[in-house]
Amino acid sequence: MAKELQVSTKGVRAGILRTEFAEHSEALFLTSSFVFDNAAQAAARFANNEEGMVYSRYTNPTVSMFQERLAAMEGAETCVATASGMAAILATAMVHLKSGDHVVCSNAVFGATIQLFNNILGRFGIETSYVSPTRPQEWEKAARKNTRLFFLETPSNPLTEVSDIPALAGIAKKAGALLAVDNVFCTPALQKPLELGADLVVHSATKYIDGQGRVMGGAICGPKALVGDLLVPFLRTAGPALSPFNAWVLLKGLETLDLRVKAESAAALELAQWLEGHPAVARVHYPGLRSHPQYELAKRQQRAGGSVLSFEVNGGRQAAWRVIDSTRLVSHTANLGDVKTTIIHPATTTHGRISPEARAAAGITDGLIRLAVGLEAVEDLKDDLMRGLGAG
Ligand SMILES: Cc1ncc(COP(=O)(O)O)c(C=O)c1O
Repeated sequence: MAKELQVSTKGVRAGILRTEFAEHSEALFLTSSFVFDNAAQAAARFANNEEGMVYSRYTNPTVSMFQERLAAMEGAETCVATASGMAAILATAMVHLKSGDHVVCSNAVFGATIQLFNNILGRFGIETSYVSPTRPQEWEKAARKNTRLFFLETPSNPLTEVSDIPALAGIAKKAGALLAVDNVFCTPALQKPLELGADLVVHSATKYIDGQGRVMGGAICGPKALVGDLLVPFLRTAGPALSPFNAWVLLKGLETLDLRVKAESAAALELAQWLEGHPAVARVHYPGLRSHPQYELAKRQQRAGGSVLSFEVNGGRQAAWRVIDSTRLVSHTANLGDVKTTIIHPATTTHGRISPEARAAAGITDGLIRLAVGLEAVEDLKDDLMRGLGAG
């Protein structure tokens, strides 16, 4: 049997479709529709009796290349791309859930995911229970007869809590539910949820897959029966498709994903270790630190800690704002997964709509700062942070 290619090789080589011109770099098919040779071919393609392109809402060669490449990297049979990460989560819910179903979800997922489950799916008779990402026994207890989906993100944002994917996959299976993992923070360069027992992987390609903060995109990866067979008809009918231009940008992003994510993880670890020894810092959350409560689990499950870390400064909100406002190099923005390092104060921005009590219970203190480390020199990042933190 041929040896399995590495993720970095797949990122560069997988999924290429060449035209008659034999172009070396992947072609961008900016076309909304495709011409048929004759009426019989058109009829066969519309009836799904013949493979081939029809209309870019559900078939486009550039989008297909992106899907094939990401599927190969995640070790998935199929991948379906969507307009954004939220569209990927919505599409997953739309094809796998119906009125009367129940979802068990980590309480530390992206805020819009919680809004989606509560405010949108809730109106259609789908109920969601929230549990700790790090306590599998809570998932076991929350599962009901009508539970169809377990949903989590690992590591979590901004506290980098790590969920035990194999343990939760086992509990989901016993409960008759699918386990979907949002693999945005690790990407397949660091973590392969399907190999660890998850049924589905969802992505916001807007983050690390693009890697340079240019376009929106999303994807769902998994077995053909759970992804390709259900999601292609959903996309065809409901329409949250990825644009060919964005697919082309993301396809090129996949080529450097492994390199970027590894370099950013190494820089994040160095910064985390430095911050941990800084007198102005009370606590650092990073899965690559020995002090992280799930350090051993992260080591088993992830190839590196990832680029996101958070740290708590002494002096609460005022001190945290001083660090952020003193930076000149890092970007003060809510996005992450960019080669440009970003910084944000979660308690007053991304998590500002949560009540102060719930925030405190979740560990998102007023002194907490989130960093998503990019590709600048670590030394320059330390200098930038030192302006507000002090020399240490
Ligand atoms: C973990 C995670 N999942 C999903 C999303 C949603 O992705 P998008 O912004 O592409 O819709 C985000 C966006 O920040 C995210 O951080």
